Amino acid sequence: MSNHSKRKEEHLALAKKYFAIKENDFDRIELVRPALPESCVSPATIACEILGKKVKAPFYINAMTGGSEKSKEINRAIGKASRIGQIPFATGSSSILAKEKDQLASFYAAREENPDGLFFANVNPNTPASIAKNIVKELNADALQIHINTVQELAMPEGDRDFVWLDKLKAIRDEVDIPVIIKEVGFGFDKSSIDLLQKNDFHLIDLGGAGGTNFAQIENGRSSHPLPYLDELGLSTVKSALIAQDSGIDFFASGGIRNALDILKCLVLGAKSVGIANLFLQVYENGGEDGLVETVLRFEDELAGLFALFGINKVNEATKVKYALTKGLWKEFIQIAVD
Ligand code: FNR
Repeated sequence: MSNHSKRKEEHLALAKKYFAIKENDFDRIELVRPALPESCVSPATIACEILGKKVKAPFYINAMTGGSEKSKEINRAIGKASRIGQIPFATGSSSILAKEKDQLASFYAAREENPDGLFFANVNPNTPASIAKNIVKELNADALQIHINTVQELAMPEGDRDFVWLDKLKAIRDEVDIPVIIKEVGFGFDKSSIDLLQKNDFHLIDLGGAGGTNFAQIENGRSSHPLPYLDELGLSTVKSALIAQDSGIDFFASGGIRNALDILKCLVLGAKSVGIANLFLQVYENGGEDGLVETVLRFEDELAGLFALFGINKVNEATKVKYALTKGLWKEFIQIAVD
């Protein structure tokens, strides 16, 4: 097994070990629910268009894996669940294909199961632009996530130590002819980075905020020199969403989504769609492909139910729902973060 495949398998094992449905900032946002919403539960309310493709719901299966035998089976299940659920899907970083071409099948397994769905490929910022273009072509991707993951890299003894990435992001963006999504992996987005991206013509981010999978913890679990203080450095998905909302950039929200109510809260904060990673992976680990399909369909039903409770008839009406942030701390923090 190559070092890359070994790392991928370790990530899967540690993501399972540390997975927990735990309290996070979604518990600190309260939605104001109308007692008389004048609405009916209907799947039509949650259907929408993302990046020009029709989908059945405003959430997606976020980037996780590829590049190992086990990941091929996971990606196959992800492809199937996204096809049946008619939601977007992603595979993990495919940058490895620059060196290990024979791993293509482990990523392509997802696309093969869902050739027409909205699919995001994923690369790291150090991927040469021509290779990113090839990956997009080989996987027939509709959009490309480029993950930025400084904290994870620093936590990895073998990780990157050069975080001068903006020009690399631009080079990839200029080479591929599909939309690019700049994506964090669980540490969220701050105001100055969003400003920098906007100034450089990037118009879509995936918040990848803290509150769910913590990649510092995962890398520390693999490291002989763990740096546990890195676990604390993430900006939560809720905080990142409030910052992104203030900046006006289009954003997908992800990181720590536990249920349909968390999805709704992201939409209320202005997310165009909502990404779920480890929860779906653990559903697959425990219930296989069928379990994953059932959970995707159940989230769709539950979200349609919540839309009716809140009188929302279309996804973009969610931003009309009023909300309160509990604990004064949050308002104070956001004021500092966006000033
Ligand atoms: C990830 N994530 C990830 N992100 C990315 O952009 N490229 C990648 O290759 C991976 N790999 C990966 C492996 C595993 C096992 C997990 C669980 C996650 C990060 C993922 O897309 C997401 O941003 C975070 O996991 C936060 O979302 P959740 O897990 O809290 O829903």
